Amino acid sequence: MKILKFTFAAALLIASTFVFAEAPAKARACASCHGAEGVSNNSLWPDLAGQKPGYLAIQLAAFRDGIRQNAVMDPFVKDLSDADIQTIATYYSQLPGKAAANGDAALVAKGENLSAYCKSCHGMKGKPAAPVWPNLAGQQSAYLAQQLTAFKSGERASPHMQTVVAPFGEKEFAALAAYYSQLAP
Ligand code: HEC
Ligand code: HEC
Repeated sequence: MKILKFTFAAALLIASTFVFAEAPAKARACASCHGAEGVSNNSLWPDLAGQKPGYLAIQLAAFRDGIRQNAVMDPFVKDLSDADIQTIATYYSQLPGKAAANGDAALVAKGENLSAYCKSCHGMKGKPAAPVWPNLAGQQSAYLAQQLTAFKSGERASPHMQTVVAPFGEKEFAALAAYYSQLAP
């Protein structure tokens, strides 16, 4: 009996270590695009799993307040309170990320060279030290390329990023996206 009780307690302990917190109620609608575990299955839609909590919170507030605009995202964030945003950002940041990968070795190698321009802020391997700056490691490749294009055109505003992407175009963006998408998140 004692052994049985011990086994049961140990099983519970193991289960509680591996089961992640249940999605907050207000994050249920997000799963249809960002995946049940924050890993999206459309390369134009970003993974949220493992992203920096401060960065996620800033972006959600930016969508809600109309600073960052996207017709697909906007309806899902317009009613979120600051507290909802904190809960959702914390939840996704704690889920394990997954490398999206791209597979084109030549493009990845070119992107790795170009990443010299990015390391001072996004870290040596796509993971910045600052909690309010985004991880790029493992992010969806088409999404990364699209955001770089949006910074370049000014559609997405960021004083840091707009200066960095100014000398580059579509070819460099595709290479950078290929490189970062295959790094371990
Ligand atoms: C119908 C699909 C869809 C749904 C549902 C959706 N999103 Fe999104 N989300 C997108 C797309 C597309 C983008 C990329 C927008 C862009 O290009 O700027 C995005 C971007 C984001 C980003 C920015 C990520 C980054 O790396 O900058 C965050 C954070 C986010 N979504 C969170 C959420 C949350 C939280 C919910 C639920 C409350 C949600 N989304 C619901 C499609 C969706
Ligand atoms: C001076 C610091 C700095 C440098 C250098 C820099 N970035 Fe950024 N990057 C940022 C910041 C800050 C943000 C968040 C912008 C925001 O708040 O919208 C960002 C955002 C991004 C995003 C959007 C991520 C997402 O999830 O939506 C991508 C993609 C990106 N950077 C790629 C790059 C690449 C590629 C390079 C090198 C060519 C680079 N960055 C160089 C600071 C920098």
